[in-house]
Amino acid sequence: MSRHPPIVPAAIDAAVAALRAGDVIGLPTETVYGLAGDAANAAAVARIFALKGRPADHPLIVHLGDATWLARWSRTVDPRAEALARAFWPGPLTLIVPRAAHVSDAVTGGQDTIGLRVPDHPVALAVLRAFDGALAAPSANRFGHISPTTAEHVRREFGADLRVVLDGGPCDVGIESTIVDLSRETPRVLRPGRIAVAELEAVIGRVEVGAVAASPRVSGALASHYAPRTPAELMARSSIKRAVGRADAEGERYVVLLRGEPIADVDGLTLPADASEYARNLYAALRELDAEDADRILVEAPPDGDEWAAVRDRLGRACSGPSSFEADAT
Ligand code: TXA
Ligand code: MG
Repeated sequence: MSRHPPIVPAAIDAAVAALRAGDVIGLPTETVYGLAGDAANAAAVARIFALKGRPADHPLIVHLGDATWLARWSRTVDPRAEALARAFWPGPLTLIVPRAAHVSDAVTGGQDTIGLRVPDHPVALAVLRAFDGALAAPSANRFGHISPTTAEHVRREFGADLRVVLDGGPCDVGIESTIVDLSRETPRVLRPGRIAVAELEAVIGRVEVGAVAASPRVSGALASHYAPRTPAELMARSSIKRAVGRADAEGERYVVLLRGEPIADVDGLTLPADASEYARNLYAALRELDAEDADRILVEAPPDGDEWAAVRDRLGRACSGPSSFEADAT
């Protein structure tokens, strides 16, 4: 927590006033920055979708100030939800549960389930508790683009369209929360994150993994989500020198994202060898490389192993190339 700048009470007050007025704000969480608005205010929720350029049938995650609020936002609180909340909240875990009757279709994309989490960030918690209401907040990026992990990323993404952006320092986790769907008989991880499948299974028993065709819309499940605008390609470390040589010969401009150690005479960034530290720095690195306006980004493929599952997931999407969705995501 030492990475967070001190809380500025006047800034929290201003943010809460903006939220009460139905405005949308940039809010730091431990995972990524969110674009937050009053989950009970239809106009605020509509403004989130408009700012993000997100299709209306993609549900939002609703952020709570305390695990006891679970009962206000879900229709029934099943023991698995209670157990996971006790084990991991505040923290980077989103629970998909049956929605309470008062929850609007706008928040859930018309589904009868809702995504809920209590973020583990002092600024987010201060805002939620002072506001005393729930905040709908997707990641604070234009639809399809890379999620922001600093206040500066958010400001660059939205400029004057977003009046209030709270600065909570760089995000500790750096990638979006683990999403587990509890609305089915066997819980299922729809999006991997810092909290691993084995950690969930230690609390609630067997958990399935991966979005299924019939599962509700998870926008992170689109192939080209989290993507830089520069085409990016995953490759084994052993292939990088050859790929760079070929790009040079063809007069292509490339930048490279490596892990652990740099490679002599290869231009680019090197992220830490540790999975959590890699994840913490990944999106800032992708933004930096994207800003180089190169022809290609070459990305060293991450290792196998459970602790790399979330990074593999995000890089797999970032590197899948442009899709029709990105055309809408400018
Ligand atoms: O770490 C995070 O979760 C960040 C921070 C800001 O909290 N938020 C975030 O929100 O990643 P967003 O909107 O970018 O991604 C939310 C994901 C989407 O893939 C959405 O489809 C899924 O959660 N989701 C939300 N409600 C759902 C539901 N009822 N059923 C299935 N998926 C749901
Ligand atoms: Mg997102």
